[in-house]
Amino acid sequence: MKVEKAKSARRCHQVCRSSAGLELVVGEVGYYNGKCTNTSANVEDIVKSVVHTEFLTDPTIVPALIRLQFHDCFIRGCDASILLDGPNTEKTAAPNLSVRGYGVIDAVKSALEKQCGIGIVSCADIIIMAAREVVFLGGGRFYNVTSGRRDGLISIAAEAVLGLPAAEISVTDSINVFANLGLNVSDMVTLIGGHTVGVAHCSSFQDRLYNYNNTGKPDPTMDPVLLKTLQGTCILNSTVDNIANLDQNILSFNTFDNSYFMEIREHKGVLGVDQEIALDTRTNGTVASFASNNSVFLSQFATAIVKMGAVNILQYPLGEIRLSCGSTNAALAPLPPPPI
Ligand code: HEM
Repeated sequence: MKVEKAKSARRCHQVCRSSAGLELVVGEVGYYNGKCTNTSANVEDIVKSVVHTEFLTDPTIVPALIRLQFHDCFIRGCDASILLDGPNTEKTAAPNLSVRGYGVIDAVKSALEKQCGIGIVSCADIIIMAAREVVFLGGGRFYNVTSGRRDGLISIAAEAVLGLPAAEISVTDSINVFANLGLNVSDMVTLIGGHTVGVAHCSSFQDRLYNYNNTGKPDPTMDPVLLKTLQGTCILNSTVDNIANLDQNILSFNTFDNSYFMEIREHKGVLGVDQEIALDTRTNGTVASFASNNSVFLSQFATAIVKMGAVNILQYPLGEIRLSCGSTNAALAPLPPPPI
C-alpha cells in the first residue's frame, strides 16, 4: 500500500494518473477541516484573521502576496521553495529581491502552530490561502482553494533567474513559459492582470523610457503623457530606484479590478509585457474583453489563480510539512554529536 502511494505521488498538474491508471485529484477543498489538534480551530479562518489584521496596517500586502504565489508556483511548483533562507536560495535571486510579504506568511504560520498544533499546515498551502485572502481584500472574488500541498526541500537561485519571466519578455516567450506549466494563453493574460495592483521599480522599465531596444529613444508605444511622468519618476542615471504603480488609474492602483486592462489599452502599460499583451493579436482580444467587463475578469482570475496553485505540487510522501517556513526541518534539527 505504502509503495503504491509512493509511486502515485509525484509532481503533477491538477490531475495525475497513478501507476494503476486511476486518476488522482491533487489537493482538496476543505482539506484541513477537522485537522487541527484543537478541534474548535479552523485553519482557513486563522489564515483569514491574520491576513486581515496585517492588511489593516499595510494594504500593500495585496500585491505582495499575489506576486509571492506567482513566484513560488513558477519555480519547482507551489512548494514554498521561495521561502527557504540561505545562500543561493530562490529568495536571493535577482527577480525575487523585490518580492515582499514573507513576514505575513511567518505570522500566519506561527498563529497556526499556536492554535492548531505543530506541523499540521504546510507553508506551501499558507501561501495559497493568504493570496486568496488578499485577492478578496483587494476587491476580487472569493474562491475556494484546494490544499494538501507539501513543502519542498530544495531552493536554487539559478532556477528562479532562469524560470521567472523578465519585465521585457516577448509575448511569444511568455506564452511558452506559461505553457510549460500547463497554463494557456488566456490563463496567462488573466494572471498578468495581477498587475492591477502593486508597483514596479524604475529598473524594471527604465529601458522603455530612454533606450528602447537599444534605439536610444523611448518606446514609441507608450502614451506620451505617461512617458513624461515616468521620466520624472525615473531620472536617467539616478542612483535611486523609485517605484511607479502598475495600474496607472490612480483611483484603483491597490484595487483588484479590470482598470489595468483599460489602462494598457490606452498605451499606459508600465512594464514592457503589460503593453505587449494589449497590442499582440494573440492576446489583445482577451485584454479587450476584460477591459469591458470587470465581472468576467474577476471570475476568470479566480479560476486561473486556482489553476496556477495546482502547478507541480508535492504530495505525500514527497516533501514535508516545515516547522518553520524559512528552513527545511533537517536544517532545524540539532547537529548529531561529533564522533568520539
Ligand atoms: C510574463 C509575466 C510577468 C512578468 C514579466 C512580470 C513582471 C513583473 C515585474 C518586473 C514586476 C515589478 C518588480 C519590481 O520592479 O519591483 C512585477 C510586479 C508584480 N507582479 Fe508581475 N509579472 C508577470 C506576471 C505576473 C503574474 C502571473 C502575477 C500574479 C498572478 C503577477 C503579479 C505581480 C504583482 C502583484 C506585482 C506587484 C508587486 C508589489 O507591488 O510588490 N505578475 N511583475
